[in-house]
Amino acid sequence: MYTLDELQLIVSRCHRCGLSKTRTNVVFGEGNPKAKMIFIGEGPGFYEDKMGRPFVGKAGQLLDKMIEAIGLKREDIYIANIVKCRPPNNRNPLEEESNICIEYLRWQVKIIDPNIIVCLGAVAARNIIDKDFRITKERGIWFDRGKYSIIATYHPAALLRDQSKKGEAWEDFKNIRKRYEEADGKMEG
Ligand code: URA
Repeated sequence: MYTLDELQLIVSRCHRCGLSKTRTNVVFGEGNPKAKMIFIGEGPGFYEDKMGRPFVGKAGQLLDKMIEAIGLKREDIYIANIVKCRPPNNRNPLEEESNICIEYLRWQVKIIDPNIIVCLGAVAARNIIDKDFRITKERGIWFDRGKYSIIATYHPAALLRDQSKKGEAWEDFKNIRKRYEEADGKMEG
């Protein structure tokens, strides 16, 4: 089993798909390496590619606010993406790109060993929960997969585009906080 640092070094040198040709930086992911909860987005955007860090643009700022609103800090959790390199013009990752890169995410999840996985948006949910996942119908529902409790909610970029989704997203975040406390109790009890 790799350490997170070893895995990061491997991923930083990855050329397994075409996205490596256009990236500025690999965005491996960051946060608490022992987090109980992982948030998973789609892939780096413009600012993430420039900085090599996940969720640092406008959507990231909204995500930070939502995390703080449920009493947590970014440092408490871990944040990663389905693909580690920015798709040109922020297009959705191709199936082939996701299929290759998700192997790295699986390693990250194995190493960090969280209880809760939060999929941000349909791309993450389709790669993690079900390939036909419908975010408007199935967000907010817990899927228990082995040791992991998995949920999907709207991507923060979708909330920036459509304010009317914010109420549902807030319900999801409260629900996530509740499950987080339950997991905490189990761990400490
Ligand atoms: N959107 C994502 O899905 N991931 C990021 O890291 C930034 C924006």
